[in-house]
Amino acid sequence: MAARLRTVGAVPKEQDLYSGAGADFYDRLVGPDRAEIREMLALAREAEGPILDVAAGSGRLTVPLVRSGKRVTAIDLSDDMLSRLRRTLPDHTMLECVVGDMRDFSLPQRFGLVIIGATSITLLDSVGRSLLYANVRRHLAAQGVFAFTVAGAASAESFSVSRDCEIEVPGPDGTERYLFSQQVEEDGAARVVNWVRVADLAEGGEVTVLTSRLRVLDHEILSRELVDAGFAVPAASAVRTLGGEDIILLTTTWAGHSEAMDADASR
Ligand SMILES: C[S@@+](CC[C@H](N)C(=O)[O-])C[C@H]1O[C@@H](n2cnc3c(N)ncnc32)[C@H](O)[C@@H]1O
Repeated sequence: MAARLRTVGAVPKEQDLYSGAGADFYDRLVGPDRAEIREMLALAREAEGPILDVAAGSGRLTVPLVRSGKRVTAIDLSDDMLSRLRRTLPDHTMLECVVGDMRDFSLPQRFGLVIIGATSITLLDSVGRSLLYANVRRHLAAQGVFAFTVAGAASAESFSVSRDCEIEVPGPDGTERYLFSQQVEEDGAARVVNWVRVADLAEGGEVTVLTSRLRVLDHEILSRELVDAGFAVPAASAVRTLGGEDIILLTTTWAGHSEAMDADASR
């Protein structure tokens, strides 16, 4: 991608994938993806009390949960992403949107189910993940379930090599071509993903590069972290996907003492 930009003398302008023009692009790229919805709805049916959708974005998972009759709090760092959710379910009495960081939030209620979809836990480094686990623990009801997804081994393999390609993304006037690149960094521990609209590759112009940085993690690492953080050994199950992507759903509960949760909650 850097070479393509250099060839036309384009000046890259970095733009977070989840804000501004990035939020619109993410929805076009991922919005129609139904993966994980069936599994999260099944967990929601069993859950008592409200649901917390962490890194909810524009509500790919939140919307079906609310429409199934559940009360959902959607938390996300990006107001641009949450605005899209608010527009889908305007003034819905069963939905609360909170702009906040999954590493540092404090809500007044406890939740019967806390979910993180779309492998978004990989947005966090290990310090961020341990902060997240402590926050989830504080917000989980006594019998509450914590569930999140991560790429399975087959997908993880494709995360270990730098690559680029052209893809088609639905646009306002038909499909648009984007250049996609994945840069593997830190000896394979992290990857930076970028998208540039091919039509924007004009001679000498400024070109928006939509970008996000992710950790490369497998479910075994995350299972160990959960246990170390005081959660029960998680159940791992395959998510059914149309495109055959390998996604694992980890489901756990708090294994520690309820007094510890109460003491934490009162802080
Ligand atoms: C891959 S999207 C997932 C959106 C949605 N859950 C889905 O399934 O499509 C990741 C979301 O995480 C949000 N995000 C990134 N870092 C965050 C953080 N530290 N705290 C809360 N949300 C964060 C982004 O704004 C984005 O909406």
